Amino acid sequence: MVSHAITRKPCENFARGLTTTVSSEPADYGLMLKQHDAYLEALSAAGLEVIVLDPQPEYPDAHFVEDTAVVTSDVAVITIPGADTRKGEEESIIPFLAEFRKIERIQPPGTVDGGDVLQVGNHFFIGISERTNQEGAGQLGRILQGYGNTWTTVAVGAGLHFKSSVNYVGQNTLLVTSDFTAREQLQGYDQIVLDSAEAYAANTLLVNEHLLIPAGYPVTRKQLETLGLNMIELEVSELRKMDGGLTCMSLRF
Ligand code: GLY
Repeated sequence: MVSHAITRKPCENFARGLTTTVSSEPADYGLMLKQHDAYLEALSAAGLEVIVLDPQPEYPDAHFVEDTAVVTSDVAVITIPGADTRKGEEESIIPFLAEFRKIERIQPPGTVDGGDVLQVGNHFFIGISERTNQEGAGQLGRILQGYGNTWTTVAVGAGLHFKSSVNYVGQNTLLVTSDFTAREQLQGYDQIVLDSAEAYAANTLLVNEHLLIPAGYPVTRKQLETLGLNMIELEVSELRKMDGGLTCMSLRF
């Protein structure tokens, strides 16, 4: 069970953040705030005390707080985000996490985005991506191992982060896009394989007994209903335009 979430309100210039998504309409700030508010409510409904940090206009992606740290029951490992425009976002998170956890830090030339790190019990999958390099993954893995955890790396081909394609939905089950099903690191788990037209819904977030899912993915919703969890569907149109997902907007611990 987790009890807290750290989040950050998006800044007015959030649409200047990094994105590869081609959209006919630019991302809308008013709508983004509405969707972010609904997300905060969902975290509260899942039983979390939600901490909301101030916007950081100098970092338009800074509301994607998940990339700045990996938080376990023992430690908060502060990352070095892999994108140049995001390096430095991690500094302002440290005092808030230090209230709850011992702090450790990734060192250069290591880079890690928290979006590449998936915890399942005491095992950590660390995606090697354009944002997380081998050096960063190795540093993170060794830190986590020092606290009694295990870890494996997984190559991330398409998609921004590992958690853009694979997430844990409880009951020893992974929600995966079809290109990850055969990965040897993911064997030993049951898998719910996403319909190829609904790959974005891989970014579904399990919080305690609640599953936060993006709205508009009916096939995936049906598949996930079999788990018997409380499902909360959230609009994510503006988030998606910025290559974001539900896991990215909070640190849960
Ligand atoms: N816009 C999210 C990211 O690229 O990091």
